[in-house]
Amino acid sequence: MTDIQSLLLSYSEEFNQKVGAFFVLPQGAEKRVMQAMAYSVLNGGKRLRPFLIHETAKLYGQSFQNTFSAAAALEMLHTYSLIHDDLPAMDNDDLRRGKPTCHKQFDEPTAILAGDGLLTLAFEVLAKANYAESVKIELIKLLAQGAGAFDGMVAGQMLDLAAEKGQGSAQPAELIRHIEEMKTGRLLRYAVQAGAIIGGASEKEREMLDVYAKNIGIAFQVADDILDVEGSVAEMGKTLHKDETQNKLTFVSCYGLKEAKNMAQNLVHTAQNALKDFGPKADVLSALADFVIHRRS
Ligand code: IPE
Ligand code: IPE
Ligand code: MG
Ligand code: MG
Ligand code: MG
Repeated sequence: MTDIQSLLLSYSEEFNQKVGAFFVLPQGAEKRVMQAMAYSVLNGGKRLRPFLIHETAKLYGQSFQNTFSAAAALEMLHTYSLIHDDLPAMDNDDLRRGKPTCHKQFDEPTAILAGDGLLTLAFEVLAKANYAESVKIELIKLLAQGAGAFDGMVAGQMLDLAAEKGQGSAQPAELIRHIEEMKTGRLLRYAVQAGAIIGGASEKEREMLDVYAKNIGIAFQVADDILDVEGSVAEMGKTLHKDETQNKLTFVSCYGLKEAKNMAQNLVHTAQNALKDFGPKADVLSALADFVIHRRS
C-alpha cells in the first residue's frame, strides 16, 4: 500500500468512528429514513472529500477535530448525490460501495427521502458547527453553490442526463468537460475551498488551491470514466460498463481510453504545479492528485 493510501485509510477510520453519531434514530415509523441515511453514509466510501478538507486545512495547522463538521457535511451531501444518482430514474444501479444501493436495500421512496434527508442534514451540521460566524456563512454559501442547479452538481447531473439522450452535444469535447467540472468537480473543489476557509488562507493562496482543486476535480471524473471501462467490480464496489450501455457522454466515449488517460495525467500535472509555492508541506495534496487517477476503487 502506498503512503497516500494508508494515510487516507487511517483518516477514514477516524472519520467513520465519529460520523455515526449524527444518525440518531427517531422513535416512530419515520426512523426508516434515518436508517437508510445511516446505511448509505456508513457503508464505506473512500472519504476522499473529507480527507481533502482535512489535508487542505492542515496546511494551516488545523486539526482533525476542527475540520470534522465540514467534512461530515460534505460527505453527507456527496452520499445524497450517490443515492439519487443510483435511482432507477437516473443511472439505475444495484450496487454501491460494495453493497446494494439504497433503493435496493430499502425501497425507492425511502431512498429519495434518504437523499433529501442527507442534503438537509449537511446544512444543519454546518449551521450548528463550531466555526466563527463569517466562516460558517461562507462554508454554507459555497456548499449550496457547489451542490446546486445553477452551475453545481445538480446542474452537472442534468447535463449528464441530457447528453445521454443525445441532446446538446454539438461540441462534445466542450460539453463533456463542462459536465465533469460540474457533476463531480464542484464538490471536490468545495472540499479544498472549505479547507482553505477553515485554515484562514490568503486570497492568493485560495486562488492557487483553487487551480489545484479544479484540475483534480475533473481528473477524478475522467478516472471514474476510465475505471468504468477498465476497473474491477470487486475493487470499485459498483456496477461497471454502465456508461457505454447507457450511452453516456464521457471522456472515454469522446476521446478514447488512451487520450483520456493522457488528459487525466495533464490535469494532475497542472494541479501539482499549482501547489509549488506551498513547498513540501503540500506533499500529501500533491500525492493525492496522483492517487485520484491511479486509484483502483
Ligand atoms: C463516486 O465518487 C461518484 C463520482 C463522483 C464519480 P467516489 O468514487 O468518491 O465514491 P465513494 O465516496 O468513494 O463511494
Ligand atoms: C456521478 O457520476 C456523479 C454524481 C454527482 C454522483 P457517475 O454516475 O459516473 O458516478 P458513478 O459511476 O455512478 O459512481
Ligand atoms: Mg450518473
Ligand atoms: Mg452513476
Ligand atoms: Mg461513473
